[in-house]
Amino acid sequence: PAEPAAVSTGSLPSPERVKALLEEAHDRYRDLDDGAVADYIPSLGRADPGLFGLSICGVRGQSASTGDAALRFSIQSISKVFVFALVCHALGHAEVSRRVGVNNTGLPFNSVMAIELSDGDPRNPLVNAGAITTTGLAPGATAAEKWTFIQDGLSRFAGHPLELDDEVYASEAATNQRNMAIARLLQSYGRIDVDPIETTDVYTKQCSLLVSTEDLAVMAATLANGGTNPVTREQVIDAAVCRDTLAVMATSGLYEFSGDWLFEVGVPGKSGVSGGIITVAPGKGGLGTFSPRLDPAGNSVRGQRAARFLSHALGLDVF
Ligand code: DON
Repeated sequence: PAEPAAVSTGSLPSPERVKALLEEAHDRYRDLDDGAVADYIPSLGRADPGLFGLSICGVRGQSASTGDAALRFSIQSISKVFVFALVCHALGHAEVSRRVGVNNTGLPFNSVMAIELSDGDPRNPLVNAGAITTTGLAPGATAAEKWTFIQDGLSRFAGHPLELDDEVYASEAATNQRNMAIARLLQSYGRIDVDPIETTDVYTKQCSLLVSTEDLAVMAATLANGGTNPVTREQVIDAAVCRDTLAVMATSGLYEFSGDWLFEVGVPGKSGVSGGIITVAPGKGGLGTFSPRLDPAGNSVRGQRAARFLSHALGLDVF
Protein backbone atom coordinates (compact mmCIF):
# COMPACT_ATOMS: atom_id res chain seq x y z
CA PRO A 1 0.00 0.00 0.00
CA ALA A 2 1.05 3.59 -0.67
CA GLU A 3 2.77 5.44 2.15
CA PRO A 4 0.96 8.43 3.70
CA ALA A 5 2.16 11.92 2.71
CA ALA A 6 4.28 13.99 5.11
CA VAL A 7 2.26 16.17 7.45
CA SER A 8 3.03 18.15 10.58
CA THR A 9 0.67 18.05 13.56
CA GLY A 10 0.81 19.59 17.04
CA SER A 11 0.88 16.34 19.02
CA LEU A 12 0.90 12.56 18.72
CA PRO A 13 -2.37 10.75 17.91
CA SER A 14 -4.12 8.59 20.57
CA PRO A 15 -2.11 5.73 22.17
CA GLU A 16 -4.26 3.15 20.33
CA ARG A 17 -3.56 4.81 16.96
CA VAL A 18 0.19 5.08 17.73
CA LYS A 19 0.37 1.37 18.63
CA ALA A 20 -1.55 0.39 15.46
CA LEU A 21 0.78 2.46 13.28
CA LEU A 22 3.90 0.94 14.89
CA GLU A 23 2.52 -2.51 14.09
CA GLU A 24 1.70 -1.44 10.56
CA ALA A 25 5.29 -0.17 10.10
CA HIS A 26 6.63 -3.51 11.36
CA ASP A 27 4.37 -5.46 8.98
CA ARG A 28 5.27 -3.26 6.02
CA TYR A 29 9.05 -3.53 6.30
CA ARG A 30 9.89 -6.75 8.18
CA ASP A 31 10.45 -8.68 4.94
CA LEU A 32 12.63 -6.02 3.35
CA ASP A 33 16.04 -7.67 2.96
CA ASP A 34 18.06 -4.92 1.24
CA GLY A 35 21.42 -4.02 2.77
CA ALA A 36 24.02 -5.96 4.73
CA VAL A 37 24.97 -6.46 8.38
CA ALA A 38 28.17 -4.57 9.34
CA ASP A 39 31.10 -6.95 9.66
CA TYR A 40 34.14 -4.69 10.05
CA ILE A 41 33.62 -5.15 13.80
CA PRO A 42 33.69 -9.00 13.96
CA SER A 43 31.16 -9.36 16.76
CA LEU A 44 28.56 -7.22 14.91
CA GLY A 45 28.86 -9.49 11.87
CA ARG A 46 27.22 -12.28 13.89
CA ALA A 47 23.94 -10.34 14.36
CA ASP A 48 20.71 -11.97 13.14
CA PRO A 49 19.69 -9.88 10.07
CA GLY A 50 16.01 -10.70 10.70
CA LEU A 51 15.79 -8.73 13.95
CA PHE A 52 13.44 -5.75 13.83
CA GLY A 53 12.23 -3.69 16.80
CA LEU A 54 10.30 -0.41 16.96
CA SER A 55 9.56 1.77 19.99
CA ILE A 56 8.10 5.22 20.55
CA CYS A 57 8.06 7.44 23.63
CA GLY A 58 6.07 10.67 23.76
CA VAL A 59 7.08 13.82 25.64
CA ARG A 60 4.61 12.93 28.40
CA GLY A 61 6.25 9.51 28.79
CA GLN A 62 3.56 7.56 26.91
CA SER A 63 5.20 4.60 25.13
CA ALA A 64 4.53 1.73 22.73
CA SER A 65 6.69 -0.96 21.12
CA THR A 66 6.52 -3.82 18.67
CA GLY A 67 8.86 -6.59 17.45
CA ASP A 68 12.30 -7.09 19.04
CA ALA A 69 11.96 -4.00 21.22
CA ALA A 70 13.38 -5.42 24.48
CA LEU A 71 16.43 -6.99 22.84
CA ARG A 72 19.70 -5.24 23.70
CA PHE A 73 22.39 -4.29 21.18
CA SER A 74 25.41 -1.96 21.24
CA ILE A 75 24.47 1.68 20.73
CA GLN A 76 27.45 2.43 18.41
CA SER A 77 27.34 5.85 16.74
CA ILE A 78 24.06 6.89 18.35
CA SER A 79 26.20 7.44 21.48
CA LYS A 80 27.86 10.37 19.65
CA VAL A 81 24.69 12.44 19.94
CA PHE A 82 24.42 12.05 23.70
CA VAL A 83 28.13 12.50 24.40
CA PHE A 84 28.02 15.69 22.31
CA ALA A 85 24.99 16.91 24.28
CA LEU A 86 26.70 16.22 27.63
CA VAL A 87 29.98 17.85 26.56
CA CYS A 88 28.12 20.83 25.07
CA HIS A 89 26.26 21.16 28.37
CA ALA A 90 29.60 21.15 30.23
CA LEU A 91 31.64 23.37 27.84
CA GLY A 92 29.08 25.55 26.07
CA HIS A 93 27.93 26.20 22.52
CA ALA A 94 30.84 28.42 21.41
CA GLU A 95 33.61 26.14 22.65
CA VAL A 96 32.30 22.94 21.01
CA SER A 97 31.56 24.82 17.80
CA ARG A 98 35.18 26.06 17.77
CA ARG A 99 36.85 22.80 18.84
CA VAL A 100 34.72 20.23 17.00
CA GLY A 101 32.68 22.00 14.28
CA VAL A 102 29.16 21.48 12.98
CA ASN A 103 29.38 20.95 9.21
CA ASN A 104 28.71 17.79 7.23
CA THR A 105 31.78 16.15 5.67
CA GLY A 106 29.91 14.56 2.73
CA LEU A 107 32.26 11.61 3.29
CA PRO A 108 32.03 8.28 5.16
CA PHE A 109 31.93 8.33 8.97
CA ASN A 110 35.46 6.98 9.33
CA SER A 111 37.05 9.04 6.56
CA VAL A 112 40.69 10.03 7.02
CA MET A 113 40.54 12.10 3.83
CA ALA A 114 37.87 14.35 5.40
CA ILE A 115 40.35 15.31 8.13
CA GLU A 116 43.13 15.94 5.61
CA LEU A 117 40.89 18.03 3.34
CA SER A 118 40.05 20.33 6.25
CA ASP A 119 43.58 20.75 7.65
CA GLY A 120 42.76 18.68 10.71
CA ASP A 121 39.30 20.08 11.45
CA PRO A 122 37.18 17.17 12.82
CA ARG A 123 34.15 18.84 11.13
CA ASN A 124 31.26 17.58 13.27
CA PRO A 125 30.67 15.46 16.40
CA LEU A 126 28.79 12.70 14.55
CA VAL A 127 31.66 11.38 12.42
CA ASN A 128 34.38 9.35 14.14
CA ALA A 129 36.97 12.17 14.09
CA GLY A 130 34.59 14.66 15.72
CA ALA A 131 33.22 12.08 18.13
CA ILE A 132 36.69 11.10 19.35
CA THR A 133 37.53 14.82 19.73
CA THR A 134 34.31 15.33 21.70
CA THR A 135 35.02 12.36 23.96
CA GLY A 136 38.46 13.87 24.65
CA LEU A 137 36.72 17.08 25.80
CA ALA A 138 34.54 15.26 28.36
CA PRO A 139 35.10 16.53 31.91
CA GLY A 140 37.59 14.45 33.93
CA ALA A 141 41.32 14.46 34.58
CA THR A 142 41.76 10.84 33.45
CA ALA A 143 40.27 8.51 30.85
CA ALA A 144 38.55 6.63 33.68
CA GLU A 145 36.85 9.81 34.91
CA LYS A 146 35.75 10.69 31.38
CA TRP A 147 34.29 7.20 30.99
CA THR A 148 32.36 7.54 34.25
CA PHE A 149 31.00 10.92 33.10
CA ILE A 150 29.87 9.41 29.77
CA GLN A 151 28.39 6.17 31.11
CA ASP A 152 26.54 8.04 33.85
CA GLY A 153 25.29 10.71 31.43
CA LEU A 154 23.99 8.27 28.82
CA SER A 155 22.30 6.30 31.60
CA ARG A 156 20.46 9.45 32.68
CA PHE A 157 19.17 9.90 29.12
CA ALA A 158 17.90 6.29 29.23
CA GLY A 159 16.56 6.53 32.78
CA HIS A 160 18.49 3.53 34.13
CA PRO A 161 22.13 2.33 34.28
CA LEU A 162 23.45 1.24 30.87
CA GLU A 163 25.86 -1.71 30.82
CA LEU A 164 28.85 -2.41 28.61
CA ASP A 165 28.68 -5.24 26.06
CA ASP A 166 32.04 -6.81 26.94
CA GLU A 167 32.14 -8.93 23.80
CA VAL A 168 31.48 -6.05 21.37
CA TYR A 169 33.94 -3.87 23.28
CA ALA A 170 36.68 -6.52 23.11
CA SER A 171 35.97 -7.17 19.43
CA GLU A 172 36.11 -3.49 18.47
CA ALA A 173 39.10 -2.75 20.72
CA ALA A 174 41.04 -5.48 18.90
CA THR A 175 40.17 -4.07 15.45
CA ASN A 176 39.96 -0.27 15.89
CA GLN A 177 43.34 0.61 14.38
CA ARG A 178 41.68 3.04 11.98
CA ASN A 179 40.06 5.00 14.82
CA MET A 180 43.38 5.07 16.68
CA ALA A 181 44.99 6.40 13.49
CA ILE A 182 42.29 9.08 13.23
CA ALA A 183 42.94 10.10 16.84
CA ARG A 184 46.71 10.26 16.25
CA LEU A 185 46.14 12.34 13.11
CA LEU A 186 43.95 14.77 15.07
CA GLN A 187 46.68 14.96 17.71
CA SER A 188 49.24 15.81 14.98
CA TYR A 189 47.03 18.76 14.02
CA GLY A 190 46.83 19.90 17.66
CA ARG A 191 43.13 19.02 17.87
CA ILE A 192 43.36 16.54 20.76
CA ASP A 193 45.29 17.56 23.83
CA VAL A 194 44.67 14.37 25.85
CA ASP A 195 46.08 10.90 25.15
CA PRO A 196 44.63 9.88 21.74
CA ILE A 197 44.79 6.13 22.34
CA GLU A 198 43.12 6.31 25.75
CA THR A 199 40.50 8.63 24.26
CA THR A 200 39.81 6.16 21.44
CA ASP A 201 39.37 3.48 24.09
CA VAL A 202 36.74 5.56 25.94
CA TYR A 203 35.03 6.22 22.58
CA THR A 204 35.04 2.46 21.85
CA LYS A 205 33.45 1.80 25.25
CA GLN A 206 30.74 4.41 24.72
CA CYS A 207 29.88 2.70 21.39
CA SER A 208 29.61 -0.66 23.21
CA LEU A 209 26.94 0.40 25.72
CA LEU A 210 23.88 -1.84 25.53
CA VAL A 211 20.47 -0.38 24.71
CA SER A 212 17.09 -1.63 23.49
CA THR A 213 14.76 0.28 21.17
CA GLU A 214 12.71 1.02 24.30
CA ASP A 215 15.80 2.75 25.73
CA LEU A 216 16.50 4.58 22.46
CA ALA A 217 12.92 5.87 22.36
CA VAL A 218 13.25 7.34 25.88
CA MET A 219 16.66 8.83 25.01
CA ALA A 220 15.21 10.35 21.83
CA ALA A 221 12.15 11.59 23.70
CA THR A 222 14.45 13.37 26.17
CA LEU A 223 15.84 15.33 23.21
CA ALA A 224 12.28 15.93 21.97
CA ASN A 225 11.39 17.26 25.42
CA GLY A 226 13.99 20.03 25.81
CA GLY A 227 16.45 17.79 27.68
CA THR A 228 14.13 16.52 30.43
CA ASN A 229 13.67 12.73 30.50
CA PRO A 230 9.89 12.29 30.19
CA VAL A 231 9.89 9.09 32.27
CA THR A 232 12.21 9.98 35.20
CA ARG A 233 11.50 13.76 34.91
CA GLU A 234 15.24 14.44 35.36
CA GLN A 235 16.60 17.41 33.42
CA VAL A 236 19.68 15.83 31.82
CA ILE A 237 20.75 18.80 29.68
CA ASP A 238 19.28 22.28 29.28
CA ALA A 239 16.96 23.26 26.45
CA ALA A 240 19.54 25.35 24.59
CA VAL A 241 21.97 22.40 24.44
CA CYS A 242 19.13 20.15 23.34
CA ARG A 243 18.47 22.54 20.44
CA ASP A 244 22.18 22.57 19.48
CA THR A 245 22.22 18.76 19.49
CA LEU A 246 19.18 18.51 17.22
CA ALA A 247 20.71 21.02 14.79
CA VAL A 248 23.85 18.86 14.46
CA MET A 249 21.71 15.72 14.00
CA ALA A 250 19.77 17.45 11.22
CA THR A 251 22.93 18.23 9.25
CA SER A 252 24.94 15.05 9.91
CA GLY A 253 22.92 12.34 11.68
CA LEU A 254 22.89 9.91 8.76
CA TYR A 255 26.37 10.76 7.44
CA GLU A 256 26.54 11.42 3.72
CA PHE A 257 22.84 10.49 3.39
CA SER A 258 21.73 13.13 5.91
CA GLY A 259 20.10 15.21 3.17
CA ASP A 260 18.07 12.22 1.95
CA TRP A 261 16.99 11.50 5.52
CA LEU A 262 15.82 15.06 6.22
CA PHE A 263 14.05 15.20 2.86
CA GLU A 264 12.25 11.88 3.46
CA VAL A 265 11.67 11.91 7.23
CA GLY A 266 11.59 15.63 8.04
CA VAL A 267 13.01 15.46 11.59
CA PRO A 268 16.51 14.98 13.07
CA GLY A 269 17.82 11.41 13.32
CA LYS A 270 20.96 9.46 14.15
CA SER A 271 22.05 6.00 13.08
CA GLY A 272 24.49 3.45 14.45
CA VAL A 273 26.31 0.67 12.66
CA SER A 274 24.76 -2.12 14.77
CA GLY A 275 21.39 -1.17 13.21
CA GLY A 276 19.82 1.32 15.61
CA ILE A 277 18.33 4.69 14.66
CA ILE A 278 16.82 7.43 16.81
CA THR A 279 14.30 9.87 15.33
CA VAL A 280 13.43 13.00 17.30
CA ALA A 281 10.23 14.98 16.77
CA PRO A 282 10.66 18.14 18.90
CA GLY A 283 7.74 18.72 21.24
CA LYS A 284 6.15 15.37 20.32
CA GLY A 285 8.39 12.39 21.05
CA GLY A 286 11.14 10.04 19.94
CA LEU A 287 11.40 6.80 17.99
CA GLY A 288 13.94 4.04 18.54
CA THR A 289 14.34 1.44 15.79
CA PHE A 290 16.62 -1.54 15.36
CA SER A 291 17.34 -3.77 12.38
CA PRO A 292 20.90 -4.78 11.47
CA ARG A 293 20.93 -4.64 7.65
CA LEU A 294 22.62 -1.37 6.58
CA ASP A 295 22.79 0.80 3.48
CA PRO A 296 26.24 1.71 2.05
CA ALA A 297 26.62 4.69 4.44
CA GLY A 298 26.01 2.50 7.53
CA ASN A 299 22.32 3.29 8.21
CA SER A 300 19.68 0.60 8.95
CA VAL A 301 17.53 0.05 5.83
CA ARG A 302 14.36 -1.09 7.60
CA GLY A 303 14.84 1.55 10.31
CA GLN A 304 14.92 4.33 7.73
CA ARG A 305 11.80 3.06 5.98
CA ALA A 306 9.92 2.63 9.26
CA ALA A 307 10.95 6.11 10.42
CA ARG A 308 9.75 7.67 7.19
CA PHE A 309 6.42 5.87 7.35
CA LEU A 310 5.90 6.72 11.03
CA SER A 311 6.98 10.35 10.61
CA HIS A 312 4.38 10.80 7.89
CA ALA A 313 1.63 8.75 9.55
CA LEU A 314 2.12 10.31 13.01
CA GLY A 315 2.51 13.89 11.71
CA LEU A 316 6.04 14.29 13.10
CA ASP A 317 7.55 16.39 10.29
CA VAL A 318 8.99 19.75 11.43
CA PHE A 319 8.53 21.32 8.01
O1 DON B 1 33.82 3.67 15.45
C1 DON B 1 33.15 2.89 14.81
O2 DON B 1 33.43 2.57 13.67
C2 DON B 1 31.92 2.30 15.48
N1 DON B 1 32.16 2.11 16.88
C3 DON B 1 30.72 3.18 15.29
C4 DON B 1 30.42 3.53 13.87
C5 DON B 1 29.00 3.77 13.60
O3 DON B 1 28.11 3.35 14.29
C6 DON B 1 28.71 4.46 12.34
N2 DON B 1 27.34 4.33 12.02
N3 DON B 1 26.63 4.22 11.22
